[in-house]
Amino acid sequence: MKANAYAEGRAPAVPQANHLGTPAANKTKTPARKGSAGWLVPAGLILLVVIPLASGALRLIELAGGPKIMPANPPMTAMPLPVVVHIACASLFALLGAFQFAAGFRRRHRDWHRLAGRLVVACGLLVGLSGLWMTLFYTSAESTGDLLYDLRLLFGSAMVVAIALGFAAIRRGDVLGHRAWMTRAYAIGLGAGTQVLTGMAASLIVSHPTALSTGLAMGAGWMINLALAEWSIRKHPAHSARAASAVVSHSR
Ligand code: HEM
Repeated sequence: MKANAYAEGRAPAVPQANHLGTPAANKTKTPARKGSAGWLVPAGLILLVVIPLASGALRLIELAGGPKIMPANPPMTAMPLPVVVHIACASLFALLGAFQFAAGFRRRHRDWHRLAGRLVVACGLLVGLSGLWMTLFYTSAESTGDLLYDLRLLFGSAMVVAIALGFAAIRRGDVLGHRAWMTRAYAIGLGAGTQVLTGMAASLIVSHPTALSTGLAMGAGWMINLALAEWSIRKHPAHSARAASAVVSHSR
């Protein structure tokens, strides 16, 4: 029998069904923790990505025939489907994904974590794939600069691979691997938010932005997020190991 991959180190009273699909046998809810500190993580993550989400909403309004507020982008106007998919999926990925990191909420609502997780996986794959598509067909190395062009191909591909690895990990009951790869994928996705900050910092340092300075600022956004993700993955190795071993021992 496979274990409930969301046990999070707690030995359930009744052996539970598998992750992602089979209904859980144990519907017992874990009592809520006192305080609201657990909500700071999703709140902070959503705050980080507010500006890209707002600009995405404005772009969608414009493409739907509304006022032209955003900078002109002829390839997007000529072929809006990829950017519409990108923005819609990025919004769901960022918002739903943030709640997957609220540990208390996740423990109390395991069915929600599974259901929302499937949507986050699907949306995340579409964000990465549409981002790669737009890099290849909307923009060019001449218009964005070689560095940004290559970084988009690198991090777009890395996001897709990380989601695939995170999904494969949970299908085989590897909680530790699932958490690590989904954290990395989310960090890459939320690079869009950190890049607003690194872009602002770059504009303070460089008075006339160049393709190189823009590429460096965007790359810094992704690297900062990935560094924070690795720190977060390694922060509680004992807790993570307990969670994983609880899953493994339960599956025997
Ligand atoms: C949750 C994460 C993400 C959010 C919220 C987001 C948001 C957006 C938005 C709002 C746009 C439209 C910009 C405009 O209207 O001018 C856009 C465009 C784009 N995004 Fe993302 N994005 C995310 C992740 C990614 C990733 C991981 C890649 C990696 C390849 C990527 C690559 C692109 C590209 C290439 C464009 C087109 C840029 C252009 O043609 O000027 N995005 N994104």
